[in-house]
Amino acid sequence: MTTDSKAAAARGAGREELGARVEDTLGKMSLEQKCALLSGATAFGTRAYPALDVPALEFSDGPHGVRHQSAGANHLGIGGSDPATCFPTAVTVANTWDPDLASRMGAALGEEARTMGVNVLLGPGLCLKRSPLCGRDFEYFSEDPYLAGKMAAGFVRGVQSQGVAACPKHFAANSQETRRQASDSVMDERTLRELYLTGFEHVVREAHPQAIMSSYNLVNGTYANENDHLLTQILRNEWGFDGAVVTDWGGSVDHVAGVRAGSTFQMPAPGMDDPRVLCEAVRAGRLAESVVDDRVREALRLVFATDPAVRTASAAFDQDAHHELARTVAAEGLVLLKNAAPAGAVGAGAADAAAADADGAGAAPVLPLAAHTRVALVGDFARVPRYQGAGSSLVNCTRLDTLLDVAQASDDLDLVGYEPGFARSGEKSATKLAAAVELVRGADVAVVCLGLGEVEETEGADRRTMDLAPNQVELLHAVREACGRVVVLLSGGAPVSAGWVADCDALLYLALGGQAGARAAYDALCGRVNPSGHLAETWARSLADTPCARTFPSDEATAEYREGLYVGYRYYQTASVPVAFPFGFGLSYTRFAYADAAPELTATGELRGVSLTVENVGDVAGAAVAQLYVAKPDHVVFRPEQELKGFCRVELSPGEKRRVTIELDDTAFRYYNVRTGAWEVEGGTYELRIGDSCDDIRLTLLTTVAGTGAPDPYEGLGVDSYRTGRVADVPDAEFAALLGHAIPSPRVTIGRDMCFRDLGHSRSPILWVVYAVLSALHRRNYGGSGAPNLNVEFVYNMPLHAIATMTPVVPMGVVDALVREARGWGLLGVVPALLVRLITGGWFAAVWVLWVLVPIAAAFAEGLARNAAFERRLG
Ligand code: BGC
Repeated sequence: MTTDSKAAAARGAGREELGARVEDTLGKMSLEQKCALLSGATAFGTRAYPALDVPALEFSDGPHGVRHQSAGANHLGIGGSDPATCFPTAVTVANTWDPDLASRMGAALGEEARTMGVNVLLGPGLCLKRSPLCGRDFEYFSEDPYLAGKMAAGFVRGVQSQGVAACPKHFAANSQETRRQASDSVMDERTLRELYLTGFEHVVREAHPQAIMSSYNLVNGTYANENDHLLTQILRNEWGFDGAVVTDWGGSVDHVAGVRAGSTFQMPAPGMDDPRVLCEAVRAGRLAESVVDDRVREALRLVFATDPAVRTASAAFDQDAHHELARTVAAEGLVLLKNAAPAGAVGAGAADAAAADADGAGAAPVLPLAAHTRVALVGDFARVPRYQGAGSSLVNCTRLDTLLDVAQASDDLDLVGYEPGFARSGEKSATKLAAAVELVRGADVAVVCLGLGEVEETEGADRRTMDLAPNQVELLHAVREACGRVVVLLSGGAPVSAGWVADCDALLYLALGGQAGARAAYDALCGRVNPSGHLAETWARSLADTPCARTFPSDEATAEYREGLYVGYRYYQTASVPVAFPFGFGLSYTRFAYADAAPELTATGELRGVSLTVENVGDVAGAAVAQLYVAKPDHVVFRPEQELKGFCRVELSPGEKRRVTIELDDTAFRYYNVRTGAWEVEGGTYELRIGDSCDDIRLTLLTTVAGTGAPDPYEGLGVDSYRTGRVADVPDAEFAALLGHAIPSPRVTIGRDMCFRDLGHSRSPILWVVYAVLSALHRRNYGGSGAPNLNVEFVYNMPLHAIATMTPVVPMGVVDALVREARGWGLLGVVPALLVRLITGGWFAAVWVLWVLVPIAAAFAEGLARNAAFERRLG
């Protein structure tokens, strides 16, 4: 027996043992116990049944650090949490293009989770970056599903190597924070499959996560968590997922529908309301008990499979080693976007820096800085770094490097001083600006730290603009006038419009580098690290150039994904829209040559990849990221210009060359055919393009692929925008043709799904007051300073149903009473109140108040009484 087959046999035996324990436990559980297991008992924990030897399961955020709250748990990062390593967020991790590194980071996260008693780590986040404005883009990997899926798979492998579970999120099509709990993502099935599901498919098939989180939003009219098409037909039946589906926190609307559709746990703790309702549904014959049993099996498997790791964990993790790993990830994720020779240097033209660097011509570029260069450090981010985003992923880091501290403690460069240069709030400050200008006059190089503020990148709200704060742009301009060499270090989790780039000689994008990001940036400044990251998303020249600029984010009930397949580079390249920095782009302190591409075949003659030689032709060590794009210029079925289908990061010493193979998998040539309802392949010639970015193709091979002979599903349909990729303004008729049905109404209707932000449209004076207060607080949130008040944003975008699903005490009956109030019940109360007044001469206000309050109080009391009875039965 080989080692592999021994390991597989051991896994099989382990699974059998686990399966037997699950069946044995299931057989001993009452219906009440089964139903209660499927809802959370605390903010992050499930119910334990000590008599049955079923321990509680503990979940914890999140994607780049463990946010475990020993006390006072909540899900928005508002309360403090136990100290944990804050690794770089997904945006930086993706820029490494290194799934093995993501796996090492995942393993460290898994280890920290174990030590904190956490069974399931709520990450990675791999929603597709549809627009650079999404407030949570910093938590997601890429605009490309292949890259996102591969990075996520690495992460999951790492986490699960520690015996705990990873929980990729948010499944699916969850691309905006505005109305996040009640927005309906409307798109055609091909777009859903090829873009929004493919990343999840890669991670499920390759890394077998034991859990997955359903998203808050609806997908084509049905909540993701109640969506049989997503959870059962695709996730479980097509991809073979056999783990537990966990709702997002408060993301269960109709628990019975969720369980029926394939959702296992509803979180956080809805009290006894939902377990009782589930039990009643079974007793009334509306839901088969076998369905509940299936979900309970999934739940128990997860509990039993992860419990040993938590029980046997050591008490602490190695904080130094994890800090060092965080630094490595931050360093590998650094993207050098510009590195020109300073203006006026011998051999330097006014030429575009990137080009100068790419062909190695001209005078030496600004970076790396020579030892003892006299550096002026400018910009508030040098002292107070932006290294993570806000919301549920907020980590209480074990320590924090700042660029100012690192620069002061190091003697590689000579620090002549530091000035903040601008106010973080966005307010103009002539004094700060003048002090910074004065400082840089006396330096060889100005290192200017710019970035997006805390308020701009957060869960629960989308960005309003792609621009950097004007006071930062103004500072940079003033520094440019005063200093011959200007380097910008940019922090932020999403692209910004880059009109200001002309004002610097070098631009190093740190993204959100985690607690050790500043040290990584300093190492790159002085050449100890060669920045070798590549962008995992396109930087458009301006917001107006992005494909869904006109519609993102949607404030209405529906979010129409009119751009279809044309997200990110798929759009810019197909529609020939010039960009600031293309997908896959990244400079380096060295240069790489790509040569001798050849197809790699399996023993049976199938194409399995492309091999090529990558050579470091510069003077310093560095990593190349070779990217493989598949294109079919003579396609019949419309498709993007080209699509990423493979990549490989190669570390090379100066002068070293290596033969590498970029693997292709069975998703390389497929497209989803909406007429046959299946993945198909268009037969004929394909181009396999190898590039250093999507815009810099160095080698091309041709290959012939046998097709499946499916008909063109768009034949005879008026979908011209999709044929040309010019989708910035798709007419209604074309979008309807793509959908295959009429466009659903975007109107918000009064019901459980209406959000607090919609209460102005209700027919209730009381709810109008609630709306007015909340709107005022929401407007104040964007007054410009400091961190956002997430509670306000959360409630503003929260649907009424979440009042019940987010709290253990409020039954759904109360929500229904509120909905009646929103429909005009209270106004109707004027009639009896008037009648009583006419008869008795008084009591108007009392009758009216009773009319409004009694139904709500009655629903509350009824719910409490029924839930208490259920709890007694549960024992
Ligand atoms: C977020 C999830 C997170 C959960 C628990 C939700 O608000 O959307 O990503 O895992 O809270 O904190």
